[in-house]
Amino acid sequence: MQDTELLQKAREAQKNSYSPYSHFAVGAALLTKSGRVYLGTNIENASYGLSLCAERVAVFKAVSEGEKEFLKIAVVCPASEGVCRPCGSCLQAMREFAPDLTVIMANAKGEQETRTLRELFPYPFGL
Ligand code: THU
Repeated sequence: MQDTELLQKAREAQKNSYSPYSHFAVGAALLTKSGRVYLGTNIENASYGLSLCAERVAVFKAVSEGEKEFLKIAVVCPASEGVCRPCGSCLQAMREFAPDLTVIMANAKGEQETRTLRELFPYPFGL
């Protein structure tokens, strides 16, 4: 699947964001080796610390469905300063399953960046 198509799926997921506290909607689309795509979006909570990032929602959905081999993930965020790079917790969660993952990031300004997970997170915990 082309990056542009995966980014488009991430934008669809972004529409479901539940982010009344940050007003920062994030969407993610995770492509597995089997060709399936798992969508994720950020889900916040009045108890802020319970909030989940879009990337981890997508990863955990996939793993819970029996998929553990991932090729690439697209992550989209609103018009912001630069693209939305996954937070450290999401990087660690993705690293658990897919050290060679490709991470495609884009914002609503049309800025785009592609990195490997190893580039973004060279020194994970325990792996
Ligand atoms: N967020 C994500 O969903 N993914 C990231 O990579 C960084 C941040 C969410 C968490 C919170 O709901 C909002 O963006 C603002 O931090």
